[in-house]
Amino acid sequence: MTLTIATTPYIDQKPGTSGLRKKVRVFQQARYAENFVQSVFDVLDDFAGQTLVVGGDGRFLNRDVIQTVIRMAAANGFGRVLVGLGGILSTPAASNIIRTYAAFGGLILSASHNPGGPNEDFGIKYNIGNGGPAPERITDAIHARSMVIDRYLTVDILDVDLDRLGETQVAGMVVEVIDPVADYAELMERLFDFDAIRKLIAGGFRLSFDAMHAVTGPYAHDILERRLGAPAGTVTNGTPLPDFGGHHPDPNMVHAHALFDRMFGSDAPDFGAASDGDGDRNLILGRNIFVTPSDSLAALAANAHLAPGYAGGLKGIARSMPTSGAADRVAHALGLPLHETPTGWKFFGNLLDAGMATICGEESAGTGSDHVREKDGLWAVLLWLNILAVRGESVAAIMAGHWARFGRNYYARHDYEGLETAAAEQLVSELRAALPALPGRTTGSLTVAGADEFEYLDPVDGSLSRGQGLRLQFEGGARIVFRLSGTGTSGATLRVYLERYEGPDGVLDAETPAALADLIAAADHLAGIPRHTGRTAPTVIT
Ligand code: G6P
Ligand code: ZN
Repeated sequence: MTLTIATTPYIDQKPGTSGLRKKVRVFQQARYAENFVQSVFDVLDDFAGQTLVVGGDGRFLNRDVIQTVIRMAAANGFGRVLVGLGGILSTPAASNIIRTYAAFGGLILSASHNPGGPNEDFGIKYNIGNGGPAPERITDAIHARSMVIDRYLTVDILDVDLDRLGETQVAGMVVEVIDPVADYAELMERLFDFDAIRKLIAGGFRLSFDAMHAVTGPYAHDILERRLGAPAGTVTNGTPLPDFGGHHPDPNMVHAHALFDRMFGSDAPDFGAASDGDGDRNLILGRNIFVTPSDSLAALAANAHLAPGYAGGLKGIARSMPTSGAADRVAHALGLPLHETPTGWKFFGNLLDAGMATICGEESAGTGSDHVREKDGLWAVLLWLNILAVRGESVAAIMAGHWARFGRNYYARHDYEGLETAAAEQLVSELRAALPALPGRTTGSLTVAGADEFEYLDPVDGSLSRGQGLRLQFEGGARIVFRLSGTGTSGATLRVYLERYEGPDGVLDAETPAALADLIAAADHLAGIPRHTGRTAPTVIT
């Protein structure tokens, strides 16, 4: 029997760059998750009898909120819930399940690369029937609904056993616990030449994948070790833990330093990779080389035709605005359209659905294609392996060849984390006000050529997204972008994106910090970073 439970709104349920993310203790408030889930259901139409997918990255609260979602889905009239065994579904696998089984949509429980555990982060994101994150039109409606919600619907049933595959009936609805890996692994087998990768590995090519005690463990064990024959131990930290072993499941130099040490140490493997909490990000390393996400996007786009799934070529390439222009050079050379979107994977969905882009990427370690509607960490790893198998060269040689052909976009992102929100907003608003006066201004060896605030007119649905980052363009093609992160759960994070292009005949083997030194000084100076934040150095450089 359906129960109608009275509730009152929480005023902080505005979804950010990627769903609603809060501290676990915020989610543990009475009716907090229920309010948000009901707000999602209340803005959706015509889902009676339809299928909802639910799963998450295994972090603390994952199982509890899954049970809540199952009860509320039954009460709200869904016909079927598909849930990953143990509550596990990586974000790209969830996207694939939604598409494969023509589900109405899905709820993905994750706070991505943020830490997990009782004192850390949790999140809920709604994905629509194309498998991608809900567009702003829907997330805005969810927020509006959450501000006035006065009841939620649930049923009084026992918890569903999430650790046993198969179907159960609950309150007139079917719950099916599914293998979280199988459909995804089969999709990867269709896109990539597993035989070629298997031969590469059998021939002595060594790889190391750090699953960071997060969701990709089961996927990587199955695909890399079982299907592709990599030796046991190739996958490290392969068991998902509710607190990710106390680490941030964020594949960067700071949090994946063990992998960096391995790849830059003596006896390094040929290839190293890692993914994040929910499996949508990727980190790519070769022996003694870190491939920036922007460069990885460009190299994958330039070589994708070597994999069976992309042998017919690409329809277009899309990147978020702060991502470097390396992919633009590839698009230009291949005669492909290049789309520049705001930060957030949701902006790629329309382009992919409309067949305007095949491969997409972001500087924030996200790369993916039209195979699902999320970025996909293991997909990027497998495309790299497929390319390495076909070309028979090292990662370093492939990147050197890439730069010699297209030139090199030296690139870094400097993050200032844990800032006071008011101070960070003041920095941005002062810089915004100063933009019109900046062109022509010289600082060090750099002269500002243009300054604006990025906005995006979606070419498919005509929606306009304003306030998507402040851009300073310099004579000679260098660029600095400033924006505030939309994924944090406390304080504010200022992101400063620095980029300088060197043509094919230029210096292609400089160290990035040296190549960007002038820009780093200009960013401090033009935005007044030390004055506003009291910081003289970033917290993290990626
Ligand atoms: C998530 C989103 C990405 C986005 C990233 C950084 O991973 O899925 O699309 O690029 O967060 O967002 P932020 O607002 O923190 O820079
Ligand atoms: Zn993620």
